[in-house]
Amino acid sequence: MNSALPVLKIGMLGAGVVGGQVARLLSEDQRELSTRSGARLVLTKIAVRDISVARPGIDPSLFTTDADSVVNDPEIDIVIEVMGGIEPARTLILAAIANGKSVVTANKALLATHGADLYGAADKAGVDLYYEAAVAGAIPILRPLRESLVGDHVTRIMGIVNGTTNFILTKMDEEGRAFGEVLAEAQALGYAEADPTADIEGFDAAAKAAILAGLAFHTRVTAADVHREGISQITSADVAVAKSMNHVIKLLAIAELTPADQISVRVHPVLLPRNHPLASVRDAFNAVFVEAESAGELMFYGRGAGGAPTASAVLGDVVAVARHRTGGAVGPRESDYADRAIVPIGQTNTKYLIRLNVADKSGVLAAIAQAFATENVSIQTVRQTGRGSDAELIVVTHNATEAALAATVNRLSQMDMVTSVDSVIRVEGSPQ
Ligand code: HSE
Repeated sequence: MNSALPVLKIGMLGAGVVGGQVARLLSEDQRELSTRSGARLVLTKIAVRDISVARPGIDPSLFTTDADSVVNDPEIDIVIEVMGGIEPARTLILAAIANGKSVVTANKALLATHGADLYGAADKAGVDLYYEAAVAGAIPILRPLRESLVGDHVTRIMGIVNGTTNFILTKMDEEGRAFGEVLAEAQALGYAEADPTADIEGFDAAAKAAILAGLAFHTRVTAADVHREGISQITSADVAVAKSMNHVIKLLAIAELTPADQISVRVHPVLLPRNHPLASVRDAFNAVFVEAESAGELMFYGRGAGGAPTASAVLGDVVAVARHRTGGAVGPRESDYADRAIVPIGQTNTKYLIRLNVADKSGVLAAIAQAFATENVSIQTVRQTGRGSDAELIVVTHNATEAALAATVNRLSQMDMVTSVDSVIRVEGSPQ
């Protein structure tokens, strides 16, 4: 290594699964990372909650429990935040920025709630705020949106951005197992947390959807703008019906421009045709499918979580911001000039599958069809399976607004001949 290289000192907040791998790679690959950065990268301090935890492979003299001493250390140039959570991460990052340090973070929840404050502070201080690891782990998707596709018009993003739910839905599809049983396996394998709410109810994916939508559509989007539904209501029967229609159920983060140039951003389960590129994304893998006016369709695929994969994205950002610091430059700022409106979910247009149980007698189908017609929801297909005196009806609609569909379901639920409305799932990726 060229000893004439300037030195850039790095402080890190957190040394968990991701931080441990970042520290390992910064040490093992120091020569190459430094050569690529144009500066000697030296990890000098790591803030942790408990210094007594054994962290093999990391020099113990680097640890401190005083996180303020990292963000206020005048010698530190770059702060890596991998502690997660909103506080104290927000306050520490703002302090680091105010002290002129560039920041690399993997904190999707923080960016999706307080992104505007952080971007504004970085802009004011003239430093970089990079966060590739916050969405879809190792997959380069934010840099492509911020830089590679900045000359194009992105029209739609559909992503499998939560590995835990994709693992569960894959097992339900391929092994015909029930949601609860596969969730327990995901927990045993370490994919799902002891409290799996953030993953299975779509909060994690909603934070990622907000970040993707903001970058793609040059508008501030927060997690609160994202309509969110999880997968805990998906049953083996839903999966079997999807299968019989040559579809698969996936939890998708969707951000798209409407014909009125507004943003629809949402996370919910979706029936996807098996020939859609996202349908083949199995297990805990992530993928983001992007449609842009000139580029057409693009797909980014890879590991969305895990220590080394996420560390790869963090280190890519560290090298980028180090290059900027040695060259006296900064990367792209937040781009929110378009300031597009977010469409309320009630006005969102999609196709739907409705599964309901009805009495199997004359006039029932006509009455059901009338309920759809009354709410202006056009039916594409109906499939009936007899079950003694009852029948299961599977109705697929043409595009309808969420509000019209909700009114239809309400109407159906009140009909004597309808025993139950068992599921309502959106259908994406197939002809209207
Ligand atoms: N819990 C997330 C997942 C990984 O299952 O994909 C971190 O965002």
